[in-house]
Amino acid sequence: MGLELTKEETEMLEGRHGKATRKAMEIITTLGEIYGAERLIPVSSVQIAGVSYHNLGEAGLEYLSEIAEDGQIRVLTTLNPAGMDMTEWKKHGISEDFAKNQQRVVDAFEKMGVVTTCTCTPYLIGNLPHFGEHIAWAESSAVCFANSVIGALTNREGGPSALASSLTGRTAEYGFHLEKNRIAQVVYDVEIELQTTDDFGLLGKVIGDRTGKQIPYIREIKNATTDQLRSLCASIATYGGIALFHMEGITPNRTSIPEKTEIIGKDDLEKARAELDDKGAEIDFISIGCPHASIADIAKVAEMLDGQRVAEGKTVWITTAKPTKDVAIKMGYYDKIEKAGAFLVSDACCAVAPLEGRFKGLMTDSAKACYYARGKNKFDIKIRNVEECIKEALE
Ligand code: F3S
Repeated sequence: MGLELTKEETEMLEGRHGKATRKAMEIITTLGEIYGAERLIPVSSVQIAGVSYHNLGEAGLEYLSEIAEDGQIRVLTTLNPAGMDMTEWKKHGISEDFAKNQQRVVDAFEKMGVVTTCTCTPYLIGNLPHFGEHIAWAESSAVCFANSVIGALTNREGGPSALASSLTGRTAEYGFHLEKNRIAQVVYDVEIELQTTDDFGLLGKVIGDRTGKQIPYIREIKNATTDQLRSLCASIATYGGIALFHMEGITPNRTSIPEKTEIIGKDDLEKARAELDDKGAEIDFISIGCPHASIADIAKVAEMLDGQRVAEGKTVWITTAKPTKDVAIKMGYYDKIEKAGAFLVSDACCAVAPLEGRFKGLMTDSAKACYYARGKNKFDIKIRNVEECIKEALE
């Protein structure tokens, strides 16, 4: 059976709702046909990735500007991090040229009606779907968090397909929108107590490296905070392309439990840590907030930096969403951080900002940030917990 469209969807495809909607519907229906969907389904929330001008370039910006000529979004839509803090970019060493182009990108999205808050944790700032809700999100860490921790249903969209869902309010029903594709395939018994966000990131790397896109059922973890789960989601998606996992007693999705069982012990985590530690790395950049920091993370870091001074020659970025930064300003956390010589950077992150060549070595608590720092920015890396990162910044 082929893809069946409703009257309204057919009209979108025929161009009766404008040029941009027609293009968007072409993308959605093409994906539906490729993946054997029988129908389109409404989505209530969209997260768009590919926002940094650094990744998008002039060709991407031209495409967006064309869509923005008559395109208007139909559902709540937020943006992934941009290449800079949209207000304080100058003091972070971003060039005028880059800033001008990044602003053009954000303006194009704004013209379409997108909420131009640039963050990879949209669920912390009001784009929060509920259990069982169909959504269309890009950004692998947020997709994994939505599917696994919240129990919403989304495929791992790309930038153009997420935008297409925003303009049509639809996605094709395939993949993770179908319950039959959300069943666990391999059990992981975690025989080690995880303490900090970097431990959870390392667990994500171990599972991601081993699993090869199978859906994990993770057991034996007694407690996990939202911040720790965010770290796990980011790394499990980065190292394994995993968009959904189950964690016994912690995540809400129903599943049968597979027989195939693997053990994760202390050695596995230590091996993963060793792989993310470049010997002799000279650390001159410390970044926390991948995925974007919550207000609780920021409060803790502000406390650690209060009355201290970042060492000469070191740069510290705490990255977060603009609304969270605004709360941090109101609470006095921003002042404590910035008076110490660190930066509370909103809208951007160390992976999508144009930072190549600016630093030698990154220390971070995020396994995902390590991946991009090494692969994309060619920095040496070290993974440590947040306390150790701040200690390094002050030494
Ligand atoms: Fe977010 Fe950037 Fe990390 S998009 S998940 S802070 S690499």
